[in-house]
Formats: sequence, structure tokens, C-alpha cells
Amino acid sequence: MPLASQARLFRGTPRNLARLARALQRGELVAVPTETVYGLAGDALNPAACRKIFKAKGRPTNDPLIVHIHALAQLDTLAERNDAVEQVARAFWPGPLTIVLPKKAVVPDLVTSGRPSVAVRMPGHRLFRELLKLCGRPLAAPSANPFGYISPTSAVHVRDSLGGKIDYILDGGEADIGLESTILDLRDPRRPAILRPGAISAKEIARVLKRPVAGSGKTNTRGAAIAPGMLSKHYSPRSPIQLHRTLDAKLVRELPADEVALYLFKPTGVKAAGNVRWLAERGDLRQAGRRLFATLRALDDGRWKCIHAELAPGGDGFALAINDRLTRAAAKR
Ligand code: TXA
Ligand code: MG
Repeated sequence: MPLASQARLFRGTPRNLARLARALQRGELVAVPTETVYGLAGDALNPAACRKIFKAKGRPTNDPLIVHIHALAQLDTLAERNDAVEQVARAFWPGPLTIVLPKKAVVPDLVTSGRPSVAVRMPGHRLFRELLKLCGRPLAAPSANPFGYISPTSAVHVRDSLGGKIDYILDGGEADIGLESTILDLRDPRRPAILRPGAISAKEIARVLKRPVAGSGKTNTRGAAIAPGMLSKHYSPRSPIQLHRTLDAKLVRELPADEVALYLFKPTGVKAAGNVRWLAERGDLRQAGRRLFATLRALDDGRWKCIHAELAPGGDGFALAINDRLTRAAAKR
């Protein structure tokens, strides 16, 4: 039996980038760093390459892929633009925002799971942008994790869970944001709606568009209808998660040794212990978001019978995005 192949990590040297760009042009897959989470990229206009993405992730083909571009000119080949897109793209691209638009015929049905719309993002990470430019085609890239598992925020995360299924990983360091992009539905520019909360909030987008933007979450039934990967169980560690509005100090003091408390911020009045953790210093929601997935992964090593996680205070911006991920990580199905 041949040995299973093992992905190699590549630093972003010009030579490596050229090599990875050629692999993408040949229809192979490359895991790429982005400022949100690592993605598993393939030529978006090559159905055979896209099929490999679904296969490597074990992702059902009814869950469509995001297409990444490096220049606005590429958007015109993929989707129908409107005025709202111009405004939002000018304000937030390159960056952690994905825009859903009516698609053009060139986009394979496999990418959009047969929908008449396509999700497009211009990412900000320098190395991914260089790779997009070098390979000269739009790249489909879902988060580079096995379907349903926690999204990767480092090259090592990708190797740990997909290393046996892919050959190339471009190492671009730790993801700066650590939570997936905000997804904005702009199919109808008069009715913008958030389908997945992320670093860019509905409020910020509303300010740019000068009109209300429907939020996401349980109140947004449109999200359920048009973005299938979104409301069910997701981001799930194998250890069960129990959510808490605030973690009660008494509960934490009396935790059994095989249960762990995960605070958002460094708690006061609770002694540091092996089973007491936090994501960030007081009030630093951005850092909490950046550390969330890496911490859930680290806690998911079979040691803990239960992870007691504290929800973020407030219902906007990073807090909304963090709570969305925690809620889905805790969902049973
Ligand atoms: O930050 C991100 O967005 C990362 C990086 C790699 O760019 N990508 C990412 O992809 O999170 P993925 O596949 O894990 O999540 C994309 C979500 C899916 O839940 C999918 O249902 C939704 O985007 N989506 C894709 N195309 C769509 C479309 N045409 N309409 C509505 N939702 C769509
Ligand atoms: Mg994902």
C-alpha cells in the first residue's frame, strides 16, 4: 500500500507562490491563509477542481462555495453588479465581507449548488491576494476544515485535520480576525440582509448604504432559506459545550476536574486553575474572536467531558459573531 500523502507547508516566498499558482491552474487544491480563517482553494471556473474541494472536506454539494477575487474587474465576469455593491465594495474590500449577487453563466452550478446567486469576496490577506493575482482566476474556497468541524485559523490546524487529503498549504501565519467573513445578501439592493455575522456589522454596512440592513440570527428566516450551511450544528468540537450568559463563580469553583470553564475575558475573583481558561483580557472582544476557534480546538483533545463557555455581552459586531459561532458549536444537530 502506498503511504497516504501528507500536506506540505509552504512559506510565502515568490518561488513557492509561483509553484502554488501553477498547481491551482492545473486544477489542484491549495489551502490558503485569509484574514478570517484558512480556506481550501481551487479554480472556481473548473468543476473538476471544485468537486475535489467538496470531496476533501466531506461537504454536501448542496452547501455552496464562496468565490474569491483580487480585483473588481473579476467581479463583472462572475456576477451582476448594482449600485449597492459599488458602495459596499469601496468601503469594505479587500476585507472580511462576502457579497451574494445574481450569478453569471460562467460560474459552474457546482459552486453555487445550483442557485442563481453566487457569493463573492475580495480577501485582504497579502499572500492570498498575491496567489489570486498570480494564478489569474477566481478561486472557490470554503473554510479548510472537515465539514461541521471548527474552522482553522493557522496552517497547522489545516494540516491536523485535512493533511492527509491535500498536498499544499500556504502558511500565512495566524488569522488576524479568526471568524469567517460577514455574508451580505445584495441580490436585491433595496433589501440588504446579513446571512452570517462577522467582523463587519450590519450597522457599519447600513451607514454606507444609507438604508437599514436586516440582521442575522434566529430572527432572519431568509438566512435559513438561502444559506443552508448556516443555522444547524457547525464548528463543533467533539466535547459537548454548555453555554452560559455569564459563568457563575460558584459553578466554576465546584467544577469536576474533567469539566472546563471558558471565559471570554480574564475573570476577577476566580483563581487560575487547569480547568479555568479565558480568551482575552477584559473587554478585548476582537482578541476573543481571534482566539475562539484555536482555543476550542485545543480544548477538544478528549480530556474534557464538558466545556462551559461564556457568551459575549452585547448583541452587535464581534459579540454577535462570537455568539453565533458558540451557539452553533453547542447545537446538538
Ligand atoms: O471568511 C470566509 O468567508 C471563509 C474564507 C475562506 O473566505 N470562507 C468560508 O466559507 O467561511 P464556508 O464555505 O465555510 O462558508 C460559506 C458560507 C456557506 O455557509 C454557504 O452556505 C454560504 O457561504 N454561501 C455560499 N454561496 C452562497 C449563496 N450563493 N447564497 C447564500 N449563501 C451562500
Ligand atoms: Mg465553513
